[in-house]
Amino acid sequence: MGSSDRNGAIQLRGVTRRFGDVVAVRDLDLDVAEREFLVLLGPSGCGKSTALRMIAGLDLPDEGTIEIDGEDVTDVVARDRDVAMVFQSYALYPHMTVRRNIEFPLRNRKVPKAERDEAVAEASRILALDQLLDRRPAQLSGGQRQRVALARAIVRRPTVFLMDEPLSNLDAKLRVQTRAELIDLQRRLETTVVYVTHDQVEAMTMGHRIAVMVDGVLQQVGPPGDVYDRPANVFVAGFIGNPPMNLLDARVASTGDGGGTSVEIEGERVEVGSRLAAAAARTSNGDLVVGIRPEHLRIDPSGPLAATVTVVESLGHERHVVAATSAGQSVIVRVGVEDPSPADGETIRVAWESGDVHLFDKGSGERLDP
Ligand SMILES: Nc1ncnc2c1ncn2[C@@H]1O[C@H](COP(=O)(O)OP(=O)(O)OP(=O)(O)O)[C@@H](O)[C@H]1O
Ligand SMILES: [Mg+2]
Repeated sequence: MGSSDRNGAIQLRGVTRRFGDVVAVRDLDLDVAEREFLVLLGPSGCGKSTALRMIAGLDLPDEGTIEIDGEDVTDVVARDRDVAMVFQSYALYPHMTVRRNIEFPLRNRKVPKAERDEAVAEASRILALDQLLDRRPAQLSGGQRQRVALARAIVRRPTVFLMDEPLSNLDAKLRVQTRAELIDLQRRLETTVVYVTHDQVEAMTMGHRIAVMVDGVLQQVGPPGDVYDRPANVFVAGFIGNPPMNLLDARVASTGDGGGTSVEIEGERVEVGSRLAAAAARTSNGDLVVGIRPEHLRIDPSGPLAATVTVVESLGHERHVVAATSAGQSVIVRVGVEDPSPADGETIRVAWESGDVHLFDKGSGERLDP
């Protein structure tokens, strides 16, 4: 196990898992490259844990196949797969000390004491648990317990490392720190990591690639920058980015004089340029969603869209101006702290560059602009 001829590449084909009427994971095709850090991202209940548990062998698909290192492991039980999993709930043994918990998988495999001690020392140093080795889980904070669970997985040196929201119980500061440590750890151990989270900041910062899931269906897989810059559909667009992308209902309007297509938002014709005009023409029934990120909107008296400010949120390093259009659509504009801030209730106009606009088909939700 963990021998060097294994590389930890994972391949899922047509994987489906049902619980009664619920399709937790639907027809999932996913390739994870060797030594890749892949993040499975999506809202609560979208099937992330179920997908991970099937890769671990803790749950079996109803349909489809799973390969690890080119070997079909679809029906191989967890114990016989070279994978380690860190759970959302840490599942520590309450009657064992931290040390015993961490070395448990090694004892199980009859690893000699000297080797065990070394592995525990290294893992506890990496996760800052050195001072806690003699305590029991009940005497630890949630964050400390979570680090014990990570340490227990690390000592196994698996070729595939599966993590299910391993940082969810850490406070903000420790989370940032442990995030960096996990990235470093993955590089050093040269293992493949599949990391489940609903936190898009974790996904953006940790993943070589992100796989976004909604309702059991994989929506998009790609490097964080690609997913951010070119979300494949309205859902991904609204999920990645904080504050989220502004998504405004719009219509295709014909110019009438044979000059092609233009776009209307709440009755206002907006200049979109030829790239978007061509894309808008591909809509199925004329209904569009125009997507513009808050950092790409600016307050501009000559802008095409009016909105009334609901609240201005100050985050210290930037401000979010939250406003509503006359049709009640929400708009968020990100402004610098040095820029003048509008007052609550003030009507502003917003502008943007057409190069920053994302266009989606309202009916299918699919991205229209290439
Ligand atoms: N053992 C089970 N029995 C019945 N339904 C289940 C079971 N496990 C999961 N489900 C259902 O399958 C769907 C996916 O669940 P899953 O735990 O994979 O979601 P998740 O993306 O990990 O969510 P979260 O972010 O909340 O952990 C949900 O609708 C859930 O209720
Ligand atoms: Mg889960």
